[in-house]
Amino acid sequence: MTADWRHSLSVTPEILASFFERVARYLEAQQAPHSRVVDYYPPSQLAELLSVQLPRDGASVDTVFDMIEACLRYSVDTGHPQFFNQLFGGRHWPALLGEWTASVVSTSLYTYEMAPVATLMERYLIEKMGGLAGFQHPSGTFVTGGSNGNLMGMVAALHAHNPAIKTRGLGGQPPLIALVSEDSHFSYEKAAIATGIGGHQLWRVPVDSDGRLIPEALHDSIRRARRDGTIPFFVGATAGTTIRGAFDPLESIGHICRTESVWFHVDASFGGSALLSRQLRSRLVGIEDADSMVWDAHKLMGVPLICSAFMINRRPELLRDAVGTDGIPYIYHDYDAHRDLDSGHLSLQCGRRNDVFKLWMMWMALGDEGYERWVDTCVGHATQVATIIAADPDYELVYPSDFVTVCFRPVPGAGNTGNQITERLRDHLARSGTLMVNQCVEHGMVYLRLVFLDPTRDLSEFRLPRREEWHAL
Ligand SMILES: Cc1ncc(COP(=O)(O)O)c(C=O)c1O
Repeated sequence: MTADWRHSLSVTPEILASFFERVARYLEAQQAPHSRVVDYYPPSQLAELLSVQLPRDGASVDTVFDMIEACLRYSVDTGHPQFFNQLFGGRHWPALLGEWTASVVSTSLYTYEMAPVATLMERYLIEKMGGLAGFQHPSGTFVTGGSNGNLMGMVAALHAHNPAIKTRGLGGQPPLIALVSEDSHFSYEKAAIATGIGGHQLWRVPVDSDGRLIPEALHDSIRRARRDGTIPFFVGATAGTTIRGAFDPLESIGHICRTESVWFHVDASFGGSALLSRQLRSRLVGIEDADSMVWDAHKLMGVPLICSAFMINRRPELLRDAVGTDGIPYIYHDYDAHRDLDSGHLSLQCGRRNDVFKLWMMWMALGDEGYERWVDTCVGHATQVATIIAADPDYELVYPSDFVTVCFRPVPGAGNTGNQITERLRDHLARSGTLMVNQCVEHGMVYLRLVFLDPTRDLSEFRLPRREEWHAL
């Protein structure tokens, strides 16, 4: 970058045109037949293909654009038609435009003054999403994902249990116990670590053969905790478990929590989107009684990472009481007539990114009807592929598919354990960029998990390697 370096950082129409031209070329190439989900290289080779060392002297615009192209070329394309690996992905114009707009205005959501549009949209969406769950007076904040939403649930529960913990900490308290299912997400353990209750104080309650928490076992554990002189203060149910997409029986769990006066949080990071569908919403019956929930829009609502809403039921003041801090006049202004809209008091962050534009734009473009079709179609896709796999002599389903995941594995062959073949197959598919599907391990058995989150995908190209091909991998 030369003499007038300040001027050369301006965002000009030429720079934008050049960027979008490259993005458009990339997107077109990625949709072409036989394109790859990832152009994968091991780290040493990748480091040779592109240097991640920063220069002493600034680089030219062209060199920066070369690097942008390399970023596109060597990254995993989670919007690719053959990406079925994680619980996110897809690429849709309203969400992308919302995302880019948020970057253009790049502000922080802590005061209405700093983020007027985003604040109104976020408020609206918290009310809408909480309302879909049947929450009364839903309040809350967007968070950095389901993991942090589960942490927020635990923080709120601690405050509801004993508000003095906010100022005095956990010292002198009898040990506190949080209860979740065996199939729940590992972020509950991180929440137990971060809140200071301790990872061992997170008890894992058994699930039934469908992967749903067993309410009687939960109740027994709560009673045992009390007999042991500990205090059960938090139950974290799951609506849509990570691997199987199972929905815990929320009604029964809620009943137990009420009887035992324990905070009832629902991790609906994955399954919250079922609330958008008349056909599926019955799976979450009972969520209306929960005390808090988290719902990731970056999972089954097709918006780019990160977009996640944490919500509290019935007690609009609780979150502010639990995490709000006083005396920050350089951000919050007492004279501001709209300070009741300041959302920073509800968050554990200071600077907080605008994750709301992208969801709002998607919802605007799709409408409630469109999102309902979206979710129903994804479930339809999973059912369709599960039916194909069930009838395939080379593969077997590990679990029946009931939501948007399909768990399966190659039928073990002579001379090979199923695990070897499964691992080699997964590795080959991912490294060759042919198909990205996740690998799971349970009781020593390795299997694969496909996730269907993008109803615009064309499944006619979906094909798994035949048994004869496995040995060549
Ligand atoms: C059930 C469940 N809860 C929580 C999370 C964590 O969500 P995030 O990645 O948004 O933190 C996941 C992630 O896959 C999940 O499947």
